Amino acid sequence: MSPEQTRGEVLDARSDVFSLGSALYEAATRSLPFTGPSILSVMHAIAVTEPLAPGRLRPELPREFDLIIERALAKEKERRYGSAADLAQALRNLRAGLSGPWSGSPVVYDRDLIGTGLSSFVGREPELTKLEGLLRQAIEGNGRVVFITGEPGIGKTSLSDEFLRRARASCPGLLVSRGRCVEQYGTGEAYLPFLDAVGPMLEGPGREHLASILRTYAPTWCTQLPAVFASTGALEKLQQETIGATKERMMREMGDALGMFANTSPIALLLEDLHWADPSSVDLLRHLCQRISSQRLLIAGTFRPEDIERSNHPLKGYRAEMLTHNLCEEIALDSLSHEHTAIYLNQTFTPNDFPSEFSLLIHDKTEGHPLFATNLLQYLQERGDIARRNQHWSLARPLSEMELEAPESVRSMISKKMDALAEDERRALQYASIEGAEFLSTILASLLDIDEVDLEELLARLEKTHRLITTKGEEELPDGSLATRYRFAHALYQNFLYQDLVNKRRVMLHRQAGERLLAHYGKRAPQIATQLALHFERGRDFPRAVEFLVHAGDHATKLYANAEAAEHYTRALSLTEKLSGDDQAITIVTLYQKRGAVNMALSRFADAIDDYNRMLKQVELTGSLEQKAAGLNALAATLFFSHRLEEMAACADQALAAAKALGSEQLRLETMGLVGLKHLCYGEVEVSRPILEDVIASARAINHKPALAAGLVWRAGLCFFQTDYERAIEYATEARRLASELRDGFVLLTSMFFLGLSNGNLGRMSTALSTLDEAIRMAGRNGDKFWFPRMPNCIGWLHRELQDFDGALKHDQQGVELGRQYHVMEAEANSLINLGIDHTHAGQSEETIAAFSEAREIFERDAWFRWRYMIRLEAATAGYWLRRKDLAQARKFAGRLLRTAQEYGAHKYIAEAHRLMARIAIADEDPAQAEQEFALALEELSRYPVPLLEWRTHADLGRLKSKLGDPEAARRSFAQAAEIIKSCAATVTDEDLRATFLNSPAVQSVLAGSA
Ligand SMILES: Nc1ncnc2c1ncn2[C@@H]1O[C@H](COP(=O)(O)OP(=O)(O)OP(=O)(O)O)[C@@H](O)[C@H]1O
Ligand SMILES: [Mg+2]
Repeated sequence: MSPEQTRGEVLDARSDVFSLGSALYEAATRSLPFTGPSILSVMHAIAVTEPLAPGRLRPELPREFDLIIERALAKEKERRYGSAADLAQALRNLRAGLSGPWSGSPVVYDRDLIGTGLSSFVGREPELTKLEGLLRQAIEGNGRVVFITGEPGIGKTSLSDEFLRRARASCPGLLVSRGRCVEQYGTGEAYLPFLDAVGPMLEGPGREHLASILRTYAPTWCTQLPAVFASTGALEKLQQETIGATKERMMREMGDALGMFANTSPIALLLEDLHWADPSSVDLLRHLCQRISSQRLLIAGTFRPEDIERSNHPLKGYRAEMLTHNLCEEIALDSLSHEHTAIYLNQTFTPNDFPSEFSLLIHDKTEGHPLFATNLLQYLQERGDIARRNQHWSLARPLSEMELEAPESVRSMISKKMDALAEDERRALQYASIEGAEFLSTILASLLDIDEVDLEELLARLEKTHRLITTKGEEELPDGSLATRYRFAHALYQNFLYQDLVNKRRVMLHRQAGERLLAHYGKRAPQIATQLALHFERGRDFPRAVEFLVHAGDHATKLYANAEAAEHYTRALSLTEKLSGDDQAITIVTLYQKRGAVNMALSRFADAIDDYNRMLKQVELTGSLEQKAAGLNALAATLFFSHRLEEMAACADQALAAAKALGSEQLRLETMGLVGLKHLCYGEVEVSRPILEDVIASARAINHKPALAAGLVWRAGLCFFQTDYERAIEYATEARRLASELRDGFVLLTSMFFLGLSNGNLGRMSTALSTLDEAIRMAGRNGDKFWFPRMPNCIGWLHRELQDFDGALKHDQQGVELGRQYHVMEAEANSLINLGIDHTHAGQSEETIAAFSEAREIFERDAWFRWRYMIRLEAATAGYWLRRKDLAQARKFAGRLLRTAQEYGAHKYIAEAHRLMARIAIADEDPAQAEQEFALALEELSRYPVPLLEWRTHADLGRLKSKLGDPEAARRSFAQAAEIIKSCAATVTDEDLRATFLNSPAVQSVLAGSA
């Protein structure tokens, strides 16, 4: 039996996966995953407890098996395998993996790290010891982030390579991967080093297992690696699961997935050249750093401190912060000592008869700078100053001569090295530097206009003899052509060569490289958008530069890297002045529109408004009515969510006029949806209703789903406010379906909100609770700032209705805190009202008054849906005074409540006002009046059913009848209340909650009275 079965919910194949998982668990461990003395307690265990991992009971079981069981037995069926076939596949993968390379030997996902590496690595013993210590701790479960820092060429990469090489030898089962940052201008590509590190892991050994972890714990990342996940046909499901995702969610999911990977085998992740990292990667690193201490994960990152200082890189602040809080380690590299230079010399040239002063000369010249020293020696060798005679290395010239000619700096060293190359070699490398630290042979061949085979031969020389580049491997480009990828042996070579090109040549080559890449990539060019944008910008082809910056921004949006997207668009905007005429205005409009949208997604309302205003100004030039209407629409929505309702109304009017002039029904409906919402927000319910109904009917007629979804969801809201719960559910259900189809996270959460509340009022308690629970989890997962703080007080209300006052208080307090934390005033105010009711119940007057007056203050400041919350506040305040037996005050608020509820057609509160007035009349010893009010309340409720309120009204009436000495009438009323109570209780699947409800004094007195 699955958790959802214990709750009496709808079942599907995933319930069977759960059962199969339980059977597997028992077969593997000889114990049951869920136990208890009675059927009920076993059901309880199934619903709430996590079984021990199988590996804890049978240590010989592989950890992957634990993961498979964990996923099969997940409480939420969404997290389970989709079918028994998926589960079977996972088991097959596990079996295959157990006999393959996955069974214990280290797994390395970077070809460069597999090679034998520097045979002549010297020194760095303290650093290596430190790194090895950190790795040991990580393997034991205390992960750490460590930075290896120092100037260019000081040996960061060499040290980390050496460390990982040793780690591989000493730690079987260690998973090693490396991601590189690439020197980019501006913002760069979001998450590049992480995608670079994770991508190969999904192609290497054990990939099925890693993919299944990623699939379970990091769906947002799976959508970024479609090649791996599209084949399984699961992409659509993935798309569903990631509706409304955010950057925070992506970061959390990568943390979860790495943690899970590391459960199976510890991981060493090397992130190279972080001084070029994109801002999202830095944020992710920071996120990982905060949770790494309990994971079997070591992250080593290399960077050049001077570079992050100079460019004011985001890593700068982060590094300072982490070091102060002792959240990371830093290993700062210095030059090699004379002793190590000498060892290096002797290792590289064995045997030799160099004079002892030679190593001193090299060390003095280079100050022990490794890149300088190793290059100098190579240079001397190439010049023949160091030569091999009779199996011995010796100096061909006196030391004093060599000293005079030796270069003075790394730069002049490199310069001499390049001068020593043949003309065609030098030119090839210079042109290659256009592509960056890595380059493709096909592109280079076309830049040089030479045959590819000749080029490969030339490059082979540069690799073997001069050791200036290394081959990375072959690659098939999207048009089917084959290319070899090379890498400069050191970034400084590339920098030097690039700077050495004259400006005009650089411009020409960049443009040509961009065009060649474009030809090879064709339709898939947007995949390399940042690279192309760079080539075209530097190649002064501005229209194309802008085009690819737009692609880069769009791509970043897909990664929820909205801040990066905004920067790409900003960069593009800065280039638009170089565009000509028509193109220019149209492009500017699009760019402001896109930047407005990402600013809106970042809740940067002021910036978004600014963008839309600029967009509209520009539209004057293009004269495009369509863009004008779209811009006004977007602006109106932004103004609405910024609570600037007056401006919003004026803007919507203009949008309508534009849509009308354009004859666009779609745009008209989108605006009308907003207008309907605005009226609803102001409490102009009679105006709002026909508008929303027209939006629904017309959008349905032309099948315009976005407007239809919006119309439906706000119409559901209006029905809910006016106590027409069945219809609210109907509308919200359709809106929910459409929202998933459209991937509109906001409408999805809104529909769930109204579904939860409406079901609750109808007494379908568990449906209400589970809907709201799902909504709050989704909002939390996505880091949603709008709905997340609005949900807890709704859950608190349901608990209160079920007489669970402790639970109510807890959720309401959480609601107040979240409202404050997220600066969502109505969430705070609404939770304060609830809290006041909780305090009233507990007889705490002062706290009640304080909560209510705080809520009132908020309403004075903010008009957003104020009418609606005021109704709740008046009801709560009347209840409070009644309890305090201040009948005049109670009457005043009950009267206000009745008037307002009538004005807005809030029938639940009309009934509540009458019930309050009846109870006031009882306190005032006016039973006739009381009976009359009860009758009015019940009449209202018969037309607008609210079971939750109905049973309490019957119960109150029963008590009155009993007091009046009419036991038969009293029993009848109690019986009616009892009937509702029982049907309501039957919908509560949580046993404890149901018991709390049924055993509460309020319910017990009714049940007793009905007997
Ligand atoms: N400990 C060492 N032993 C021997 N050679 C070394 C050592 N450290 C560095 N080298 C030599 O110096 C060269 C430059 O070192 P490396 O590439 O590691 O520098 P880096 O700090 O990573 O530079 P960058 O900041 O440009 O990435 C290496 O190619 C290697 O030849
Ligand atoms: Mg390096």
